[in-house]
Amino acid sequence: MSMAVHVGAVGVARPRIEGRAKVTGAARYAADEPIPDLAYGALVLATVARGRVRDIDVASVRDMPGVLGVIDHTNAPRLNPEAGNFFGPDGGLRLLQDDLIPHAGRPIALVVAETPEQARAAAQALPVTYDEQPHDTRLFAGHPAGRPALTLFDAPADIGDVDAELAASAVVVDERYGTPEENCSAMEPHSATAWWEGDRLEAVDSNQGPFQIAFTLATLFHLPPERVRVRVDHIGGGFGGKTMCGPQLILAAMAATRFGRPVRVTLTRAEVFLATAQRPATDQRIRIGADADGRLRAIHHDATYEISPLAEYIEGCTELTKTLYAAPAIRTALTVVPLDILPPYSMRAPGAAPGSFALESAMDELAERVGLDPLELRLRNEPGVGPVSGLPFSSRNLVACLREGARRFGWASRDHRPRMRRAGPLLIGTGLAATSFSTGAFPSTATITAEPDGTFTVAIAAADLGTGARTALTAIAADALAVGTDRIRLRISDSAIGPAWGAGGSRGTASWAWAITEAAAKIRGPERPMTATVDTTQLLGDLASRERHAFSAVFAEVGVDPATGEVRVRRLLGMFAVGRVINPLMARSQVIGGMIGGLSMALHEEGVRDPVTGRHVNADFAGYHIAAHADVPDIEADFVPDDEPGVPWGIKGVGEIGNVGTAAAIANAVWHATGVRQRHLPIRLDRVLES
Ligand code: MOS
Repeated sequence: MSMAVHVGAVGVARPRIEGRAKVTGAARYAADEPIPDLAYGALVLATVARGRVRDIDVASVRDMPGVLGVIDHTNAPRLNPEAGNFFGPDGGLRLLQDDLIPHAGRPIALVVAETPEQARAAAQALPVTYDEQPHDTRLFAGHPAGRPALTLFDAPADIGDVDAELAASAVVVDERYGTPEENCSAMEPHSATAWWEGDRLEAVDSNQGPFQIAFTLATLFHLPPERVRVRVDHIGGGFGGKTMCGPQLILAAMAATRFGRPVRVTLTRAEVFLATAQRPATDQRIRIGADADGRLRAIHHDATYEISPLAEYIEGCTELTKTLYAAPAIRTALTVVPLDILPPYSMRAPGAAPGSFALESAMDELAERVGLDPLELRLRNEPGVGPVSGLPFSSRNLVACLREGARRFGWASRDHRPRMRRAGPLLIGTGLAATSFSTGAFPSTATITAEPDGTFTVAIAAADLGTGARTALTAIAADALAVGTDRIRLRISDSAIGPAWGAGGSRGTASWAWAITEAAAKIRGPERPMTATVDTTQLLGDLASRERHAFSAVFAEVGVDPATGEVRVRRLLGMFAVGRVINPLMARSQVIGGMIGGLSMALHEEGVRDPVTGRHVNADFAGYHIAAHADVPDIEADFVPDDEPGVPWGIKGVGEIGNVGTAAAIANAVWHATGVRQRHLPIRLDRVLES
């Protein structure tokens, strides 16, 4: 592969290509696309948590102003039942296919009208009666419905003799940690517009992966993939919540089919909370045993989380437990409890975020009980190879992150005893956590065309959620073609471009860059073709022969007001090993965003469900708190030199690593400030006061 880098856009801090369009309002998001003859759909959501729809009185709204009609289970287009039910609200949801209500907030009808206001008014007026059945939305470890999770990834580990090692340990931590349901809460609510052009279904949809979503949509509507096209220009955040074929798109496509004109469905904020996937609640038990000098003998991590009977989902809480520390005995298991809830799905470092909260809190508890600096405890248990897999790491610079982070944070002067520092009425504490997030690449297809004017059109069905993908891929294409970035015309976010991995799993940049780089090598190769298309399916090589992870160390300082229970983060510092950094400006922005997500997880975010009604009681931004400006302190984030052998440009990925570990670092700092462990997130005022 040709990797000439004489132009040198990669590695340079460059501003966002679409930044000006965004700040001037010129950038179009899905709901902004002007489309002639548009009708609007408004959702009707079930208000009971389990049961059947007895009656929807469509006649009573049919004559309301502007109403074109109502789609419900009695008249909706029949979806292909073979569309699959693994992983969240896609084909598996089978929207409007029957009268069953599997969870509160289930879409049971779509009212279509000439204007959004008319559609909403009729949806709100639509009388619905139900036959209610008893429901269960309460997660706890040991729930009688619990069963092992599927093992497609984060499979259970069992090396060594955990029980014997724990029995022989000088110190044992055995604690339970809990994390709540959390919602992705992207700033842009989900919106889709669908219409037919001849026999082709067209859609503009805010999502993280247009190709896979078009493929799912085609399957659902019994269409060959080439007759479905899904695209979008700009996306206002995803965080995992736009990875699936969402209800907005399925319902818009149904309505376009039924009414024979373009239909736009834009979710309200409440509908985003109630009808798009969220992170499942977890209940995790961790046992760690160590010798008196802090050397680990055993780690046992049992994670229980909720799913829906509608769809499987793997929240890989125990992946870090198999990655971070050497121990002669490691056992992990994932248990799922099917409850009457919307199928959970990926959100901001799925698995790793709740899993690392449990593991890195437990490690801090171990440091306390052994009487060791939490930093030293990590350094003492650094593995040479994958602790469970035995595979070599592609590269592992966790120690560099820990040491450099500690130096910049001023960790050496820390008194490790709790409740020793005060600032006025506040108790001050510091904490750290080590983290990792798996990396890799997935098959993608890129096409590069040498244009007569000397520019290059570079097309790949990537998605830019606001992360800077456009800017990064432009730099990569420029360097791969050995031209300036001004000669690159990037086309993304269109399923018609061809198969490509989505913006997810922290694997977007690596996957897309691989295809672009190989296509550029062809363009520059001896045959000098005017256009080259490369599908990397056969090129990715044996990535699985090594453990591939990004690593980081997060340090936090908090102030706790013992009178009110308020926790404020005063400082956050993250040092990251993420492979080669394509654009330091945007990579920093990405990991800082992740750390803010972690802060938000630590202190604020919680989907509160009333077990009596089975409904969320805080499905809006008034009740569901996320970190706002005033909550976010000075954040320092930087990168240690790192590389990823075997992947073009040495890319790992920055998408999710910033999120992982931050919650534990903050919880550990709260312990250091107060002397009390917070084993349940978020660390609310009442939890601090009660303890
Ligand atoms: Mo992500 S949670 O892989 O968008």
